[in-house]
Amino acid sequence: MLNERILIADDEEAIREVISTLLEAKGYQCDIAPNGQVAFEHFKKEPPSLVLSDIVMPEMDGLKLLARLRELDPDVPVIMVTAMHDIAIALEAIRNGAYDYILKPFEKDQLYMSVGRALEHRRLVMENRSYQSDLEQLVAERTQQLSLALRDLEQSYDHTLEALGGALDAKDAETEGHCQRVTAFTIRMAEAMGVDKVALRHIARGAFLHDIGKMGIPDSILRKPGPLTADERTVMRRHCDIGFDVLKRIPFLKEAAEIVLTHQECFDGTGYPQGLKGEDIPVGSRIFAVADTLDAMISDRPYRKALPISVAREEIRKNAGTQFDPRVVAVFLSVPDRIWQDLHDNTVNPFQLMPQERV
Ligand SMILES: [Fe+2]
Repeated sequence: MLNERILIADDEEAIREVISTLLEAKGYQCDIAPNGQVAFEHFKKEPPSLVLSDIVMPEMDGLKLLARLRELDPDVPVIMVTAMHDIAIALEAIRNGAYDYILKPFEKDQLYMSVGRALEHRRLVMENRSYQSDLEQLVAERTQQLSLALRDLEQSYDHTLEALGGALDAKDAETEGHCQRVTAFTIRMAEAMGVDKVALRHIARGAFLHDIGKMGIPDSILRKPGPLTADERTVMRRHCDIGFDVLKRIPFLKEAAEIVLTHQECFDGTGYPQGLKGEDIPVGSRIFAVADTLDAMISDRPYRKALPISVAREEIRKNAGTQFDPRVVAVFLSVPDRIWQDLHDNTVNPFQLMPQERV
């Protein structure tokens, strides 16, 4: 324990001299003070590793000094050096946070042992503290790295989705831009309905991929210009199950797969493939149904021009409770036309509309 500073407070010069001489002989550096007040000032200027303090001193006694030092820096141990008749006060000092006490007159080994133990105690406390703060910093750094990695992963998921959407666009040109727009509309309504951030992400992915199962529908039916026969319609309707089967095995798209399966259901139970009713239909699909109709009506189609939003509004309002969930319709109607028009005209990457992960 070389080069540790020890502050000695005692009003008797002889005692200060004895203690400091003994400790300096062991390689400690000693500072001395004739009373508590001077010791306290010294402590503030140059904090020691340990304090040895007499109890009865003028100006500020040992107990008062102890109390002030505990306030200032509780990690510096204080050993009370006391006469035999002060033992009750010495015990009180221990209760008040002194590390140990030495009775005068003492053997030098007694002094060395007590000082050695107190300094070792302080070293362990400091080591433990720096270990803990290193650990906290390590955890903070790792958490930061992990959330960055997660954010990257989320982004690669979204890129994967865009590639899947692009593959469907290539097969079914009529839907170009449709996936992006319905996703944007769906996100807008889901947010207004208070859907939480995690669920919102799944719903957005489901909306984006809703027709992915059409990749499994023969081109002769998918691209048929005229109306479909009953048999062809049956085949076409399989796109919900096909999409679900493709996506359900992909862990990050499991919840989205549910939306893909149920996106053609109607609120009154007349939809397909399961004929689900009311709130048995996942909320994402109930929202999607409104978004899908909105986009179909306000986009140009090969056989007609885009209709005004007011017409879409009326159509959706009319079908509240039959095709659509009335709660979703109410939310849709509360959003002004210009917002729908803006999302319709300007959505390129709907996933950018998602609330971003905080890092
Ligand atoms: Fe569909």
